[in-house]
Amino acid sequence: MDINSIARPDIVALEPYESARGSAAADGVLLNANEAPFTLIDDPDWRRLALNRYPSPQPAELKQRLAGLYNVDQENVLITRGSDEGIDLLTRVFCQPGRDAIVECPPCFGMYRIAASIQGARVISVPRLVRQGFECDFVALAQAIGEQPGVRLVFLTSPNNPTGDLIPRAELGRLLEVCKDRALLVIDEAYIEFCSARSACEVVAQWPQLVVLRTLSKAWAAAGLRCGSVIANPVVISLLQRVMAPYPLSTVAVDAALQVTAGAVASNRQRLLETVTEGKTSLLRFLAECDWVTEIWKGEANFVLLRVRDASGLVNRCAEAGIRIRDFSSQPLLDNCVRLTIGSTKEMNQLKRALRSYGDSS
Ligand SMILES: Cc1ncc(COP(=O)(O)O)c(C=O)c1O
Repeated sequence: MDINSIARPDIVALEPYESARGSAAADGVLLNANEAPFTLIDDPDWRRLALNRYPSPQPAELKQRLAGLYNVDQENVLITRGSDEGIDLLTRVFCQPGRDAIVECPPCFGMYRIAASIQGARVISVPRLVRQGFECDFVALAQAIGEQPGVRLVFLTSPNNPTGDLIPRAELGRLLEVCKDRALLVIDEAYIEFCSARSACEVVAQWPQLVVLRTLSKAWAAAGLRCGSVIANPVVISLLQRVMAPYPLSTVAVDAALQVTAGAVASNRQRLLETVTEGKTSLLRFLAECDWVTEIWKGEANFVLLRVRDASGLVNRCAEAGIRIRDFSSQPLLDNCVRLTIGSTKEMNQLKRALRSYGDSS
């Protein structure tokens, strides 16, 4: 499949900006980037970071680390400022304003639609099947991709936010066939580490039309870093780099990303995943006894989705107890639905106390 043929022609033709750090070695006497010769902070930990220098556009050590984590070749990795930036770059590169379209399957993560709207791309919505655990309507989806004009990006999330369901591997293969020569299939795996499902990264090398989004924001407990990865064919990666800022990743974030993903923190990570699993099991047991909960979608991620009798009453009551939960009532198919993120054991106990008091008074 010729990726360039589905990208915006003006981006394919664009002569990309050559940054000082991107176009020359970063050693020796550096007088090519109008930087300051020394930092203003004397503390040795900060001096080590050489903040007076621009960072590498794609730092080699972090790229190697992330390629190892996701079990792909380095040429398949683009490090981004969170998956949010990956979504934005894809939309800017592949959607011609006023002409092209993205496909989403609501209820889903809201940024696909926002990025498309900012770019002036159409949003084609293929609603999920409520009665089948919010599974995607794969028949309608294939039809939309195959028949609607200008579809360039298909965004699917596995596990999905906020419904928590997975894209079955067989459906992935079928959709990739439908997308061939038409569109990229973007599988957003922000939450995949919370479940045992296999990542679509495994098959990126076989399918040029497949893009996978990964992030350190969720199961690597580092949302503050803003560090995500686009895993894709090298032609896609190089097109995205054309529109990306010259130095997107801060030296501080890169240093922290290396620390967060180092072997030394593996036991903390194990503890995090266990805390989430135990917290979720315990919360689900608690919720099963609550008569004001009418439906529960436990999903495969670090949250659960509930339908309740009165979502705004519940959200307000939790807020009074200092607990923020997310009301999804305004989204299609989700009237009176709230999403609860699994927090620490202490936070879960606080939540249960607030829910118990809500139940006693409602
Ligand atoms: C499905 C999904 N994708 C992407 C993101 C954004 O991730 P990041 O923090 O890497 O930008 C989120 C954030 O909640 C999400 O739920």
